[in-house]
Amino acid sequence: MDSTPASWTAADAFLSDLLVGHDPDLEAALVRQRDAGLPEIEVAPVGGKLLDLLVRISGARRVLEIGTLGGYSTIWLARAVGDGGRVVTIEAEAANAAVARASIDEAGVGDRVEIRIGRGADVLPTLVGGFDLVFIDADKESNTIYLDWAARLGHPGTVVVLDNIGRDGEIVREDSTDPKVIGTVAGLRMLGEDPRFDATALQTVGVKGWDGVAIAVVTDAAG
Ligand code: DHB
Ligand code: MG
Repeated sequence: MDSTPASWTAADAFLSDLLVGHDPDLEAALVRQRDAGLPEIEVAPVGGKLLDLLVRISGARRVLEIGTLGGYSTIWLARAVGDGGRVVTIEAEAANAAVARASIDEAGVGDRVEIRIGRGADVLPTLVGGFDLVFIDADKESNTIYLDWAARLGHPGTVVVLDNIGRDGEIVREDSTDPKVIGTVAGLRMLGEDPRFDATALQTVGVKGWDGVAIAVVTDAAG
């Protein structure tokens, strides 16, 4: 079989069917997001399941998400933290937050999710720390700012997940002028060089094209 975007998508659908399955609340969130005209750039179903597993494997109870969009990944995270868990999610666009709020409430996890409306750089300094897992999935230009706050608002052992690190392979183009590529590479460099993180990154192919995810742990250097 040729390796093409169509075959990646078909294989992703196969894996989603096997491992994630049909989920009315998540699918309703995607319909609401699309009907509201939001971009369809949420994590893939298998990516949502990865977030769910990382929360459960790490035992995270307090989760911070940067970039709510329509709340699809937020629902995954909120379910994973369980009863008594908490998700704080930051969204720059009030209209997106309204869409997300409706879907999160309809999924029955509204009481564990706090949506903070504003730009990450403005909201993050107002948060009380202690987060066990931080999912960064917002404007790529600000990735280093978000990683810095993830270390500050986390603790040694906090899991940090950084979305969209592949960008169709553009990350190796040193002459790229795309701010998203530049921001993505800056974030990856920080994960490699900043002693507060120990990280890896996995390229993915699938319904999101050729992309990927970085996963890090906050080290003792974060104090
Ligand atoms: C983009 C952002 C995302 O979070 C994503 O998952 C895919 C693409 C983007 O801004 O290009
Ligand atoms: Mg993303």
